[in-house]
Amino acid sequence: MDEDEFILRPIEDGDSFTSFRTGDADFAPLKMFAKTKAKPYEKANLARTYVVCDQTNNRVAAYITLVCSEVRSAETLADIDGHLFPYEQYPAVKIARLMVDERYRGNGLAVSKKLGSVLIDFALGIAKNEIAEWVGCRFIIVDAKAKSVAFYEKVGFTLLDTPDNKARAEKVMFVDLSKL
Ligand SMILES: CC(C)(COP(=O)(O)OP(=O)(O)OC[C@H]1O[C@@H](n2cnc3c(N)ncnc32)[C@H](O)[C@@H]1OP(=O)(O)O)[C@@H](O)C(=O)NCCC(=O)NCCS
Repeated sequence: MDEDEFILRPIEDGDSFTSFRTGDADFAPLKMFAKTKAKPYEKANLARTYVVCDQTNNRVAAYITLVCSEVRSAETLADIDGHLFPYEQYPAVKIARLMVDERYRGNGLAVSKKLGSVLIDFALGIAKNEIAEWVGCRFIIVDAKAKSVAFYEKVGFTLLDTPDNKARAEKVMFVDLSKL
């Protein structure tokens, strides 16, 4: 991402998503959330949304929304020292929404702006260095749409390997913050 061209910052009242291009009708709910829910959720402390703004035209090129969550696993976790944690739920940060405007996506372009990867790295940084420093938090998770599973694998996420999860339309994928 060219830092003269783009700025990553919290959502502001003046940000508009009206001309945001989803590229696929399946992603229309992501645009609807950005247009109608992101700002009220921000004010109600239900979610935090960050945007990448194209400074050449003041357009929102991408956004990510983060919330507190948990990951459920029937499996015992072993931490880096070999301690066992036989809990069914583990604290997590969830990527509740992520979308890059179709005109800014890297897939297939010779020169990618990598805005999706930039937002994932930003979320991992917050989860690992800010949240997990102060509050117990082991994972960052996402309910991945079928069309975005390959993207999340590319940026380091793992599919939760349980029969329930494999049967879900939107599959839980995770990064273990202890391993970053
Ligand atoms: C998925 C999405 C966020 C990716 O954003 P992006 O800016 O195009 O991604 P990047 O350019 O950072 O891509 C990073 C890598 O993933 C790859 N990638 C991107 N989208 C991919 C896809 N759909 N399938 C497979 N690989 C993909 C890129 O080729 C790149 O690989 P490289 O590092 O080998 O060059 C974007 O395509 C999007 O907004 N899609 C629609 C909404 C969506 O699916 N959101 C997620 C909901 S769970």
